[in-house]
Amino acid sequence: MGLLALMSALFLMLCFLISPSLAKTHSLRPKALVLPVTKDSSTGQYITQISQRTPLVPLNLTLDLGGQSLWVDCDQGYVSSSYNPVKCGSAQCSLAKSQSCSETCFNGPKPGCNNNTCSLFPYNSLTQTSTIGELAQDVLSLQSTDGFNPGKHVSSPQVMFTCGATFLLEGLAKGVKGIAGLGRGKVGLPFQLANAFRLKRKFGVCLGSKGVIFFGKSPYKFLPAGRDISISKSLSYTPLLINPVSTAGASFAGEPSVEYFIGVKSIMVAGKPVYINSTLLTINKEGYGGTKISSVVPYTVMETSIYKSFTKGFAKAFSGVPRVKSVAPFGLCFDSSKLGSTRVGPPAPLIDFVFQNASVYWRVFGANSMVQVKKDVLCLGFVDGGENPRTSIVIGVHQVEDNLLQFDLAKSRLGFSSTLLFHQTTCSNFNFTSNA
Ligand SMILES: *[C@@H]1O[C@H](CO)[C@@H](O)[C@H](O)[C@H]1NC(C)=O
Ligand SMILES: *[C@@H]1O[C@H](CO)[C@@H](O)[C@H](O)[C@H]1NC(C)=O
Ligand SMILES: *[C@@H]1O[C@H](CO)[C@@H](O)[C@H](O)[C@H]1NC(C)=O
Ligand SMILES: *[C@@H]1O[C@H](CO)[C@@H](O)[C@H](O)[C@H]1NC(C)=O
Ligand SMILES: *[C@@H]1O[C@H](CO)[C@@H](O)[C@H](O)[C@H]1NC(C)=O
Repeated sequence: MGLLALMSALFLMLCFLISPSLAKTHSLRPKALVLPVTKDSSTGQYITQISQRTPLVPLNLTLDLGGQSLWVDCDQGYVSSSYNPVKCGSAQCSLAKSQSCSETCFNGPKPGCNNNTCSLFPYNSLTQTSTIGELAQDVLSLQSTDGFNPGKHVSSPQVMFTCGATFLLEGLAKGVKGIAGLGRGKVGLPFQLANAFRLKRKFGVCLGSKGVIFFGKSPYKFLPAGRDISISKSLSYTPLLINPVSTAGASFAGEPSVEYFIGVKSIMVAGKPVYINSTLLTINKEGYGGTKISSVVPYTVMETSIYKSFTKGFAKAFSGVPRVKSVAPFGLCFDSSKLGSTRVGPPAPLIDFVFQNASVYWRVFGANSMVQVKKDVLCLGFVDGGENPRTSIVIGVHQVEDNLLQFDLAKSRLGFSSTLLFHQTTCSNFNFTSNA
């Protein structure tokens, strides 16, 4: 009895002694980070904001899901006491799989121009322009999150990025200083942040007129109409595939693509399969074919024969609605004057991207399939990508808006929610009211 009491008193004391320090380390190490996303109205680009350097500078960056790395303009206005070029032969250089060492830079030393540094090819996927640029590390600061609200800002001293150039900013939204590349390689922001903050190697993307990106552990919560929903718990999953050949503008020999490819096996319109030559849906040895997801292409692009077959199936399924003259870039438009609306957009035929088996599909409702181009004119929001494109289907922004996508790099799989409108929420509804 006495011993027991003594032991429990000791135990209590221990708990008391240990818990404050436990709580402290807990709060220092975030489980997840969050980035706000806005859609630039004049370019349609998704813009996010990250702080970098010492002292910290907030940077607006265009988001590129398939971008190899974070790159920023180092030519103009890069001032930082913590800038650290990546030396040739270093561990960081081999992690980045750089095959290029720049021995001498005559205009330096300055950010972007130092002797004996590794280089990569920063790429502007909107203009399809690339250049060669110094690989470097600097302080990066983001907000942590518990999944419900943003929390404290956390920073890491050594996050790798690439130095772009002022000319490479051409075609990006006004005020933007570079591209936040979320590609699946080791210099991509997801891997870099997971490494720097010891997060789970996964990230969630939810795009809309406003949106959000989460790095690390789910849940990701969106403000519901009066309810608490964790959409991240009810996702469907399909494997992420590797395209063995780089799809970027410039690359080193033998580099695989860092873009996110998925295995669409068939497409159904209103429950009926669309005829597709299945060769086009597989990625061949030269890196042609297959399906990828893009955050820079506005509407899903399909190889010509797929597009023709798909639009034919769609026109048939929607034959009760009068057709009107097409409005470019679309090829199939309808008179919407007598169409009503539903919670998930115009009442259009359902489109399913079917994956590894018939029970894993991504259902696309009217809000994501149709585009209201003007009063009473509603078009199917898919475009013809011509013959022999590099990738047969590029799933574009209109089709992913208000869908939660989770890229799990550790498990190499994509989780997708279909439209959040069914859950009476949107990607704009993450509660950005700070708790910190
Ligand atoms: C870079 O290399 C060049 C050529 O070897 C040399 O003249 C220059 O001093 C070096 N710069 C620095 C900062 O070491
Ligand atoms: C960066 O983006 C924010 C939010 O969209 C905007 O308010 C701000 O003006 C932008 N800054 C620059 C320098 O363009
Ligand atoms: C399918 O596409 C491949 C590659 O474009 C082509 O070689 C093949 O002949 C096509 N098959 C059919 C049945 O059209
Ligand atoms: C379909 O694939 C999913 C995920 O890979 C698996 O869990 C499920 O059992 C499969 N269903 C059928 C009918 O094969
Ligand atoms: C958003 O989060 C803040 C901070 O936790 C909270 O005070 C507020 O009630 C939340 N808003 C809604 C609509 O739940």
